[in-house]
Amino acid sequence: MRTQTLFASVALAMLGACVGGIDMPTGGGSNTGSNDTTARQQFDSTVAPLLVSNRCAGCHVGPETGATNMFLGTANSNDSFYAGITNDRAINGGFRAGAASLLTKGVHEGPAWQAADVTTISAWLSAEAAERGDDGGGGSNTGSGTVIQPNLSVRGAEQQWAACMSISQTEYMSTKAYAIADMQTENGRCYSCHEPGGAGGAYWGRNNQYLDMLTKWQEEVFITGAFQAQTQQTSPISYKMLVASNKICSKGKEQDNSSGTHPKFDCNQNVDGVVVLDAMASFATMVQAKADSGACPTPAFVDPSAGSGSGSGSGNP
Ligand code: HEC
Ligand code: HEC
Repeated sequence: MRTQTLFASVALAMLGACVGGIDMPTGGGSNTGSNDTTARQQFDSTVAPLLVSNRCAGCHVGPETGATNMFLGTANSNDSFYAGITNDRAINGGFRAGAASLLTKGVHEGPAWQAADVTTISAWLSAEAAERGDDGGGGSNTGSGTVIQPNLSVRGAEQQWAACMSISQTEYMSTKAYAIADMQTENGRCYSCHEPGGAGGAYWGRNNQYLDMLTKWQEEVFITGAFQAQTQQTSPISYKMLVASNKICSKGKEQDNSSGTHPKFDCNQNVDGVVVLDAMASFATMVQAKADSGACPTPAFVDPSAGSGSGSGSGNP
């Protein structure tokens, strides 16, 4: 996959620049430094024009004041589009085409993509993934049949954590980690925007007595809205999961920092009788203890299509 991406990038560079001698990478393995076209350049020349011509920008550029995700940022510029998409994990699917709602959304108030557009956008996502060293995930780095230590990759740690959360409903309820859904912002409580589709890669919701949220946190696109991987040991490098407190808190301060338009909120709120981030941290400690003791099922994300919200566009309460 990486090799294909590489050749695709080289081909693109040729198209763009009409270079005579082609600089073919010899090994086909490492992609450091030898790409003539960066993923960003590929985005600017191939993807950004589609966002305009398919009118996505007409509805998805602007300040965040409602549940419509302004995932193209606040300005009609490539910089704004690029920052918006690459910072929104649900939209970019962790740079995996199959998980990117940018591609999978389909017909709604806006149009669906043409097949050729899907190819173009998928190619860009792969180029980003390769550039970010994120294209293999927790895949196969050893021979088949070997049990891979899941926490040797970020994605593996996330999958393990998802599996551990699936058997941690008691802890979730007793710590009240769910209280985050009820936190307040200047524009309403978190659930008012983050429940229906899970805005921007974060899902905070009350449905089914908060239990839907626990399931959503086990999906690949939502797990990093609430939790993040951190290096646990360096040699060999391995990862454990923590509450993504910095990300959550900085979302509430974006306007003060002029770094975005997310509604303001204080992340150290006390709701439902708990300090929310402390409650989440207690939950996280319990889940990680299960992960460390090997008590969890086979590492795996919850597959969104297997659950209640079937396929595209449906599933909203
Ligand atoms: C006429 C306005 C309009 C246009 C044009 C439009 N959208 Fe939307 N889009 C919406 C609205 C409204 C929502 C929120 C309701 C929903 O999810 O259907 C939305 C939601 C979305 C979401 C879900 C975001 C989330 O975080 O839940 C995605 C992804 C999306 N649109 C992608 C696109 C893409 C890609 C295009 C261009 C091909 C596009 N939209 C064009 C109005 C539009
Ligand atoms: C008025 C609607 C609205 C409210 C209320 C709201 N959000 Fe958001 N939030 C969004 C939208 C839209 C995005 C996606 C775009 C972005 O990242 O700014 C988002 C993104 C996020 C993200 C980024 C997720 C990721 O993985 O990148 C976090 C974290 C977040 N919100 C936390 C919260 C918390 C916590 C609350 C309640 C205290 C809250 N939000 C309330 C609309 C809202």
